[in-house]
Amino acid sequence: MFLIELTCENFRGLSAMRFAPGPGVNLIRGDNAQGKTSILEALLYLATSKSHRTNLESELARRGEGGFRIGAHVRRHDRDVNIEAAWWQGSKRIRVNGVNQARVSEILGKIIVVFFSPEDVALVRGSAAQRRTFLDMELSQISPRYLHALQQYRQAVKQRNELLRHPQPNDALLDVWDAQLAAHGATLMEERRQFVQQLAPGAAQAYEAIAEKEPMVLAYKPDVRLDASLSEILAASRKTDIRQGMTTRGPHRDDLSFDVDEKAARPFASQGQQKTAALALKLAELDLVRARTGEYPILMLDDVFSELDAGRSRRLLTAIPPEAQCLLTTTDLTAREDLFGASCARFHIQAGNLRREDA
Ligand SMILES: Nc1ncnc2c1ncn2[C@@H]1O[C@H](COP(=O)(O)OP(=O)(O)O)[C@@H](O)[C@H]1O
Ligand SMILES: [Mg+2]
Repeated sequence: MFLIELTCENFRGLSAMRFAPGPGVNLIRGDNAQGKTSILEALLYLATSKSHRTNLESELARRGEGGFRIGAHVRRHDRDVNIEAAWWQGSKRIRVNGVNQARVSEILGKIIVVFFSPEDVALVRGSAAQRRTFLDMELSQISPRYLHALQQYRQAVKQRNELLRHPQPNDALLDVWDAQLAAHGATLMEERRQFVQQLAPGAAQAYEAIAEKEPMVLAYKPDVRLDASLSEILAASRKTDIRQGMTTRGPHRDDLSFDVDEKAARPFASQGQQKTAALALKLAELDLVRARTGEYPILMLDDVFSELDAGRSRRLLTAIPPEAQCLLTTTDLTAREDLFGASCARFHIQAGNLRREDA
């Protein structure tokens, strides 16, 4: 997958921006607060309909403007895709190849990206909810079946919880929601199990390639054991659920675990190890997406060198498959100049103005 052109109009600090990257590695250099992350954020939004920094579109519109418009032209192995997103005073419009989409989720999977930002260390250090968001976001991009099951499952949990908060919840109605939860929950668990099973060896390999030391082990930690029946668990926990007024068991309580050097990374690993583990996870997705879709996703690495030493930075760059297009931001280049070959395209951004440096 190859980004040919990204355009932004009044998106964050970018009043009018056009970005035409090349194949391979593209370096976007600039001081703090010049708009580097905003460029990647725009492409992330076009791929997933979400920003990693906010859920409020009003924050994405340039201050003083009533809306924004962004668009991407992407070449896939079998077709070209044009995605446009526009937001104007509270209403959102998404177009794929010029056709308005009724639902925002229609854009998922049209452009597939793997995005890494410094905040992603929260995947290792943060809450289980953050790891579930990761699973949901990544699987929604590559599996329409997962996206469908997720939407249905969330709806069923919401309805069941509403029912559980009634003074006298109706058992027959609870049976109906239990059946929904069991069916869609089983799909979520099966897809998550497969995803993590496919991801874990690549993540371990990427971790070792970057860290050159201790091993890293990634595992899926489902709330309900994979060999157990979700409907039986729901039936057995119904009394507790009624008492607590919520659904206490199921894949909405799932987690992932990272072990570094045979110890849980959350309490024991150093900041650098945690960051490397999160990065390894993202790198492993490149091969997984290629195995599933026949092509690499677009890799975006935001400020990735900020906490990595020179050795880790160099090994990271060699771990990126040369065929994958990569958009990489950095503040200082002087310390890292030797890492980049002549084939890498260079851009510079200052106060939202992007220009190519090498051409
Ligand atoms: N909605 C907005 N309107 C105008 N400027 C914004 C908006 N959101 C963020 N900014 C500005 O954009 C800059 C941050 O951009 P960012 O892409 O995070 O920079 P970088 O990644 O280069 O450090 C800040 O100066 C911030 O004030
Ligand atoms: Mg930034």
